[in-house]
Amino acid sequence: MTHLPATFQAYVAEKIDDRVVRGVRTFAADDLPPGELTVAVAWSSVNYKDGLATLVDGKVARISPLIPGVDLAGTVVASDDAAFPVGSEIIAHGYDIGVARHGGFAEYARVPSTWAVPRPVGLDLRESMIVGTAGFTAALSVVQLEARGLEPTAGPILVTGATGGVGRKAVAILAERGYEVWAATGKDEAHAELLALGAAGILPRDEVTAESPRPLERERWAGAVDCVGAATLPYILRTLRWGGAVAASGNTSGAAFSTTVFPFILRGAAILGIDSAQLPIDERRALWERIASDLRPRELGAAVTEVGLDGLDGALDGILAGRARGRWIVRLH
Ligand SMILES: NC(=O)c1ccc[n+]([C@@H]2O[C@H](COP(=O)([O-])OP(=O)(O)OC[C@H]3O[C@@H](n4cnc5c(N)ncnc54)[C@H](OP(=O)(O)O)[C@@H]3O)[C@@H](O)[C@H]2O)c1
Repeated sequence: MTHLPATFQAYVAEKIDDRVVRGVRTFAADDLPPGELTVAVAWSSVNYKDGLATLVDGKVARISPLIPGVDLAGTVVASDDAAFPVGSEIIAHGYDIGVARHGGFAEYARVPSTWAVPRPVGLDLRESMIVGTAGFTAALSVVQLEARGLEPTAGPILVTGATGGVGRKAVAILAERGYEVWAATGKDEAHAELLALGAAGILPRDEVTAESPRPLERERWAGAVDCVGAATLPYILRTLRWGGAVAASGNTSGAAFSTTVFPFILRGAAILGIDSAQLPIDERRALWERIASDLRPRELGAAVTEVGLDGLDGALDGILAGRARGRWIVRLH
């Protein structure tokens, strides 16, 4: 069993004057925050929010220096909670992790046991970070749409940002559940890969970001999973079928968007807000059990790039530049 050493390697982002200095450092175990569980991190993953956490004006990091990494999976090496004995494997993400307390881009982390998810049977630690925050958000989006009544016979579903973390996992989950899922992407070279994953068709990004003088257009989508935000929500709302809903989780294209009331008052459309970070722990643990079973994304191991701490500069720059192709996962042990 691994024990917590006095120092270990971590990727740290520190705001100095008007810039953020980032890179791999030796970090003192004494500087880990309080919490019941000390974890030897096996895997973390790179999420868009982690990129923002390393930007001066990213509005994500709430402490400095910060070890980013909003999710992590690993083995408990010290425990003050009998429910998670030393040796147990856990997943932790969201809440303040990688934002207001040190996160997963380090060989060791410490988290409150009330934030820990026991690794579900059917998903190993590496797979859990291939899913990561992005895949968890995709699963939560599907669950929220289905809670409102969506089912595969309802009609086609649109997923935007389809080559990214949330988008690709949403395509993979929906296709596996029997939905007719359409993928919107800005990457021409990714069409074949998305079709192979199970997309029924592709929409170029231009089509789903186009402006229109019309408040409503032809009813097309029974539902949508959108992580792009400003650029795509107006199109989605104009084209949802009567009673349809969009699960809105992200803002890769920006935050403010313009629409009219007509999709809501003439078609009963709904925007379902998706927040994975503050989801209560009981719901979080239950959803991970489902991700390991009936919500397991198709082809989980595909489109995965592994990096170590020294590869994080490139991965963070890549996700901020919209170059995501599936998921970057970070090997720590
Ligand atoms: N609410 C939550 O709980 C939660 C959880 C996780 C993530 N998020 C948010 O969800 C968003 C996506 O996260 P992610 O980790 O999936 O990021 P990602 O891997 O970078 O994926 C985002 C995708 O959006 C598309 N895109 C990028 N820039 C765009 C632009 N300017 N206009 C239109 N499309 C653009 C790209 O896909 P294509 O090239 O295929 O078009 C890109 O791959 C982020 O805003 C993130 O903060 C929210």
